[in-house]
Amino acid sequence: MASSSSTNNSTGTHTTAWDKSSLPDQIETFDDYKRLYALSVDDPNQFWKMAAQRLDWYQFPTKIKNTEFDCRTKRGVEIKWFEDGLINVCYNCIDRHIEKDPKAAEKTAIIFEPDTPTETHHRITYGELLLSVKKFANVLKKHGIKKGDRVTIYMPMVVETCIALLACARIGAIHSVVFGGFSANSVAERISDCESSIVITSDFGVRGGKCIPLKSKIDQAVAMPQCTTVKTVLVFQRNYGLENIKDDCSGQRSSLEWTDGRDFWVHEELKAVDDNCPPEPMNAEDPLFILYTSGSTGKPKGILHTTGGYLTYVSLTFKYVFAYEPGEVYMCTADVGWITGHSYVVYGPLSNQAITVVFEGIPTYPDVSRCWNIVDKHKINIFYTAPTAIRSLMAHNDSFVTRTSRQSLRLLGTVGEPINPEAWRWYHEVVGGGRCSIVDTWWQTETGGFMITPIPNLWGLEGGSATLPFFGIQTQIVDKESHLPLDPPSKGELCIRDSWPGQARSLYRNHKRFVEVYFEPYPGYYFSGDGCEIKENGYHWITGRVDDVLVISGHNIGTAEVESALVQHSGVSEAAVVGYPDRVKNQGMYCFVTLKDNVEPVEELRKDLTKTVRDIIGAHVFPDIIHFAPNLPKTRSGKIMRRILRKIVEPDIHNLGDTSTLNDPAVVDELIKTSPRTK
Ligand code: WTA
Repeated sequence: MASSSSTNNSTGTHTTAWDKSSLPDQIETFDDYKRLYALSVDDPNQFWKMAAQRLDWYQFPTKIKNTEFDCRTKRGVEIKWFEDGLINVCYNCIDRHIEKDPKAAEKTAIIFEPDTPTETHHRITYGELLLSVKKFANVLKKHGIKKGDRVTIYMPMVVETCIALLACARIGAIHSVVFGGFSANSVAERISDCESSIVITSDFGVRGGKCIPLKSKIDQAVAMPQCTTVKTVLVFQRNYGLENIKDDCSGQRSSLEWTDGRDFWVHEELKAVDDNCPPEPMNAEDPLFILYTSGSTGKPKGILHTTGGYLTYVSLTFKYVFAYEPGEVYMCTADVGWITGHSYVVYGPLSNQAITVVFEGIPTYPDVSRCWNIVDKHKINIFYTAPTAIRSLMAHNDSFVTRTSRQSLRLLGTVGEPINPEAWRWYHEVVGGGRCSIVDTWWQTETGGFMITPIPNLWGLEGGSATLPFFGIQTQIVDKESHLPLDPPSKGELCIRDSWPGQARSLYRNHKRFVEVYFEPYPGYYFSGDGCEIKENGYHWITGRVDDVLVISGHNIGTAEVESALVQHSGVSEAAVVGYPDRVKNQGMYCFVTLKDNVEPVEELRKDLTKTVRDIIGAHVFPDIIHFAPNLPKTRSGKIMRRILRKIVEPDIHNLGDTSTLNDPAVVDELIKTSPRTK
């Protein structure tokens, strides 16, 4: 299977064919993991140099690691990897495979599985992908886009989205993908933050049998006063298999508004460009993309990833953690609008010349067998999804799974939230038939790629634990109160001790906030915002967010964003949003809302508030409980005590903690009496 075979020599010690000047093709034994892990920590320059050698560079870096994690030093937080290297991400994802082996041009790069199973799927070869990317890159160039320009991408889950990302990477433009569920307001906020002059979108998307208007949302976004930079909107046409879709998509197309001189159909533009577009050699530390993620406070953070380190990291993690072998078919259900889609639908798989499935739809449409039918249809070997999806599927009769074969599956993966042991077992036993190992991968938008994860079959698994750190990742539990690092076994807040190449370098044009959020809480460490327990055996158990970010169905939602949306409603005077445990979605969203005088707390208003939140942030954000509360618990200085609200909704009302600073303790009793969670 792999090129580095392991044998036991006559003295009984373990040896490997790995020659120490390059990384092995796969990690075959726990001893190999331990040896390489030790090297990655003791000599990161040597380890990551070997990892970088897996890629093709115009100029191989002479400097490998140059990082400072400590915000208290004169230099301050600065992260540079491979800083004098020159490389192109798109070239590494497509061209080089074909240059090395012309037959690769005929091999499948992407399998597109449309929303409706009866629509024809497509297979895109590496050769076809290259041509499409070059041509689309030329369309971008024709519209004046050059190295360093920001390009906002607001697309459904289709192949064209991957083409758009790769085309940006080819010419050195910085992409900023905004998930297609976000509202016009959220898109406008993200466009204006990074000042993109161009938006790539689609006339509409199709999901779960429904048409999702995208272009019209862009029209609204671009018309908003804060959105002043957009000169061009490129519009892909989604035009296959529409006869199968119940919604009236053609109606949507005919009612599209068009601004001449600003809006362009991509299929028209493609007619006017040629096939030749050389990749732009980029410095390793040139930005590759911005991806906005929710923070505990204020507006979304523009997480900035750069070129050489990011690709080195996602490429290596994809190869080792999925133990990917040539020819295997890999499917990740994440949308390209999130980091999982960036790293493990597009860049990780393609840089390894993998076959990656792009699935337009949802796991429950047309029924809950959908994923397993896709597995059988495309003979998928590796399947990667979120615990939320698993929990929603396991709520149905097992026959939806067992009526499918799933014999092709070799490995299963999860990401996005802690997976509860019950869901883990169901995934393992029912979906994987007890045959397939599971990789529970803990990581974040900020980390670029997998951080804590099993490598298949090297060590025992415990359902619910992401197990051990990947190469180069030094985890550290820190005590919240004392700020002291704790040796394992320990429980506390999860930090990372030193840099790894895939980590975000900054927040776009806001390095100060980057340092404040990730490096000031525990000086000398990267702070993840997650709680974690490391047990005696070294296994890591993630306990969830410790800040004001909710993780609902795998989506991160800042409570501050929802609060600010709620108070934009004319009837609301104040709002406080907290999460509570939910069996399927990981967390539910609980909104305490204080109304203005003379506003009646009627049912209609609840619907109205829900609509306000969805209109302002996006359709994937949904208050589960709206509790009209005449008063909120506050300190004497007027600060809402969210800690107490969290206890009420958990509910854990006998451990409210210190309430001595409360202005009016009766407020808490009243909330406990009226909360649906404490009834
Ligand atoms: C959570 C997604 C437990 C965690 C890649 C993290 C997880 C946040 C896991 C990042 C996991 C992700 N086990 N929790 N395997 N994976 N999380 O930025 O709270 O969308 O901080 O990146 O998801 O979410 P993000």
